[in-house]
Amino acid sequence: MRLSVFGIGYVGVVTCGCLAELGHELVAVDIVPEKVAMLAAGRSPIVEDRIDGLIAEAVRQGRLTATGDTAAAIARSDLSVIAVGTPSGPDGGVALGAVEAVAAAIGRAIRAKDTPHTVVMRSTVPPGTAEERVIPILERESGRRLGEGLAYYANPEFLREGSAVQDFRKPPFTLIGAPPGDDAIELRALYSPIGAPVHVTSYRVAESVKHISNVFHAVKLAFANEAGGILAAYGVDAREAFRLLCEDRVLNISPAYLRPGFAFGGSCLPKDVRSFLSLADRRNVAAPFLRQVLAGNQAIVERVFDLVARHGRQPVALFGLAFKQGTDDLRESPFVLLAERLLGRGFELRIYDRSVQVARLMGANRAYIDREIPHLERLMVISPQAALSGSRIAVVGHVAPEDRPALLEALAGHVVIDLAGMPDLRSHPGIAYHGLCW
Ligand SMILES: NC(=O)c1ccc[n+]([C@@H]2O[C@H](COP(=O)([O-])OP(=O)(O)OC[C@H]3O[C@@H](n4cnc5c(N)ncnc54)[C@H](O)[C@@H]3O)[C@@H](O)[C@H]2O)c1
Repeated sequence: MRLSVFGIGYVGVVTCGCLAELGHELVAVDIVPEKVAMLAAGRSPIVEDRIDGLIAEAVRQGRLTATGDTAAAIARSDLSVIAVGTPSGPDGGVALGAVEAVAAAIGRAIRAKDTPHTVVMRSTVPPGTAEERVIPILERESGRRLGEGLAYYANPEFLREGSAVQDFRKPPFTLIGAPPGDDAIELRALYSPIGAPVHVTSYRVAESVKHISNVFHAVKLAFANEAGGILAAYGVDAREAFRLLCEDRVLNISPAYLRPGFAFGGSCLPKDVRSFLSLADRRNVAAPFLRQVLAGNQAIVERVFDLVARHGRQPVALFGLAFKQGTDDLRESPFVLLAERLLGRGFELRIYDRSVQVARLMGANRAYIDREIPHLERLMVISPQAALSGSRIAVVGHVAPEDRPALLEALAGHVVIDLAGMPDLRSHPGIAYHGLCW
């Protein structure tokens, strides 16, 4: 393919070296003349393992050139990769000035040619950048509409400095954000020699996966470093403890606990976070990161309360009271917190939870119910229909499979706040649906 790469920085140089190695013809573009001159002379402007040889070879074979002239680069290529910087702005938000400037320059240059052109965003940008910022600029400046001689893909880069060439050659996957119905055949072909799995998704999801990946890495590091300090204060070799933590591929290093949804609760997680923090306090080890965990969890209950309250003080049916489906364990259940928050603000409430209902009838967990939630027990009803008749808002936390048909049948006319992501709720006709984070 004939490619142009905008931005001769860490990502741009590695992209140039690795794509030239695959046999493509590349022209690199930058606004800094020194970088252009260095690359054109076959020298890498960045320090990175294995990159010097790749760049020297690509330039020697005539597969890689460099220029400061955008129009010339666009005329000599069919696909442009944007790899310019996206630094933090003064408010912490990302500064998209370079991305917008380069998109405008590319758009203007596309206007001057008469063959189709594809633009690929490799820089890290926040969700919405494609649809709200870059595509409108490209369309305006090129005079073309997306899909009519102009294609655009979000294609975030996952390389790490220090092992960037290796990471380019062996990425976890190739992620492509595309418009609906576009399978990104041209971009798939570009990466096919790499052999990594390809995921094509929406622009926004592709943009956000890169973002949350880096945040996740930061969260993992903050957790490991802070917890490591607390453990060390008790004579524990934290490296060994974390090595073994990582050996659990079922719950720890796995998709478990990584599905966005409602607050956590139950008899273990909140208690053990609190007790771990008390260990830190007793040895005066600072734990500002872990101290926010329960506060963050509480904020999610508050977010759901706000979502309900936004619809006025109408009667609410709450599905689920135990901390998760299939148990009658009410200890530290976030649904109990939500129910109490709603009651406290004067909402009329009916609660249905099959497992808690069975426990009540059998006398199991009775002492806990009588002692801790007598005020909620009075609001419990015996069927989904009983919960929904007379209510206007349904908050669906969890529902046993055997109750789903009855729930779906009686839901019509309700505002539904789905905390569980139940597949048949979203497509239910005749309800006003709100997903918690989807
Ligand atoms: N560095 C990494 O490890 C890494 C990894 C993955 C993703 N990313 C993301 O990739 C993007 C680039 O990162 P980087 O570290 O390579 O940045 P960098 O600062 O090293 O390079 C950016 C280059 O873009 C050039 N540039 C700015 N405006 C331009 C314009 N209008 N036209 C042409 N060139 C222009 C700059 O002169 C600079 O050479 C960022 O969004 C970053 O978040 C970086």
